Amino acid sequence: MFQFIIASNNEGKIKEFRAMLGDLGRVMSQREANIRLEPEENAQSFEENALKKAKAIFNTLPREPYGTFILADDSGICVDVLGGEPGVRSARYASKNDKNATDEANRYKLIQELRSHGVPSSPARFVACVALVGMGARGERIEFVARGECEGRVIDEERGKNGFGYDRLFIPDGLEETLAEVAPEIKNRLSHRYKALLQVRAHLAALM
Ligand code: IMP
Repeated sequence: MFQFIIASNNEGKIKEFRAMLGDLGRVMSQREANIRLEPEENAQSFEENALKKAKAIFNTLPREPYGTFILADDSGICVDVLGGEPGVRSARYASKNDKNATDEANRYKLIQELRSHGVPSSPARFVACVALVGMGARGERIEFVARGECEGRVIDEERGKNGFGYDRLFIPDGLEETLAEVAPEIKNRLSHRYKALLQVRAHLAALM
């Protein structure tokens, strides 16, 4: 069995990681693992941010036991009518000081931006890059980054109460409901993070 430390304290994300990897081992949040470090997410791509975060947290571990892996994700929403924004800035979209803003404020800003472009909706996608950093059985360093995407569209009104972040504004292709209106199990099977985590699972399976 593995032990996974998720480089996040975002309860919504931890729940999704637990649902997807819980059968492979113990899944802990950063707080549960007593790690306080919060590396800045200032790179230009989701891939770089995820790997940077996972490496920084892995380097804080007192020893590097086989079987303990850091998983870090960087994710966001890219909206076509906004030229791909907010992208890597999704968590800070509504912020004036470049710190993370609340989900409510970020959604409000996205709604205002859509309206200012004179459109009620726009094609968009959620993107998640998940980095896995750990130590292999022969003492070799393992670094792997996976990318998953969920295509759909954003709308200019909130619908639903489930999930987190931009879920209330996002309708995935093939559904009429937002991700906040469907059951968590449905979101988990469609999500960008799920698609990235499937690749992480396959990579872990090869290490077993
Ligand atoms: P970060 O990956 O922690 O930097 O957060 C990325 C931003 O995108 C945050 O504002 C999240 O709320 C949002 N986000 C990431 N994944 C999802 C999702 O699955 N649903 C809704 N919002 C998300």
